[in-house]
Amino acid sequence: MTSQLNKDNLPEHIAIIMDGNGRWAKAKNRPRLFGHNAGMKTMKKIVRASSDAGIKIITMYAFSTENWKRSPEEVDGLMNIAVEYFHKEVGELHQNNVKINVIGDLDGLGKKVREAAVKAMATTAENTGLVLNIALNYGGRAEILQAVKLLIAQGIAPEALTEAQISEHLYTKNQPDPDLLIRTGGESRLSNFMLWQMAYSEFIFTDIYWPDFEVASYYQMIENYQRRNRRYGSTE
Ligand code: IPE
Ligand code: IPE
Ligand code: MG
Repeated sequence: MTSQLNKDNLPEHIAIIMDGNGRWAKAKNRPRLFGHNAGMKTMKKIVRASSDAGIKIITMYAFSTENWKRSPEEVDGLMNIAVEYFHKEVGELHQNNVKINVIGDLDGLGKKVREAAVKAMATTAENTGLVLNIALNYGGRAEILQAVKLLIAQGIAPEALTEAQISEHLYTKNQPDPDLLIRTGGESRLSNFMLWQMAYSEFIFTDIYWPDFEVASYYQMIENYQRRNRRYGSTE
């Protein structure tokens, strides 16, 4: 599907909380991992649709620092899906000039998924098309904390510390903040996602479970964004 979107005023950076896989599977009397596998297919579709629409950056929330609280079976299954994604998808993504950037605490991941992530980033490092941030073992507070630790370790004087310096020590350094956040799955919360970067993002929450999310709805949300008036505290 080629995008019919108005190219003026496109969001440069879209962040997505891909939620609802487990409930989608439960409604079908299937195991949660069935939902996560279906979710991976939706992710592929939405990444392609983002490229087609001329979006510059998308950030997909795949696994949070809190998701380790789930059963070992589910955590293992999610990690296997991540490895599979890197192994199977990087070829096509690379052909489509997509640059993969895994954000989160890579050191806290298992060796297999860490190595697959590092390889995917190295393979696509020179690409100039869509930037695909995949948030894996990602926590917004942990991200801010590690930025502050880095700055302290560099010996920064308190009076010299600026907001821009904090931004430049986040995983998203050199990227604009998300213009639009989409969360599927019916919950209206951030769940520790991009807390610093979302200061002025536009939010859209939908009840649709992630595996049921369609490109048409995605483009409607982008159109909804394009109709909004972002004031940033001013009056017009
Ligand atoms: C989102 O779906 C995927 C991850 C958090 C890894 P969930 O697994 O949270 O699905 P629900 O919210 O239980 O339906
Ligand atoms: C947020 O979803 C994390 C991801 C989508 C990866 P959760 O399902 O973990 O969030 P909560 O627990 O409902 O806040
Ligand atoms: Mg959930």
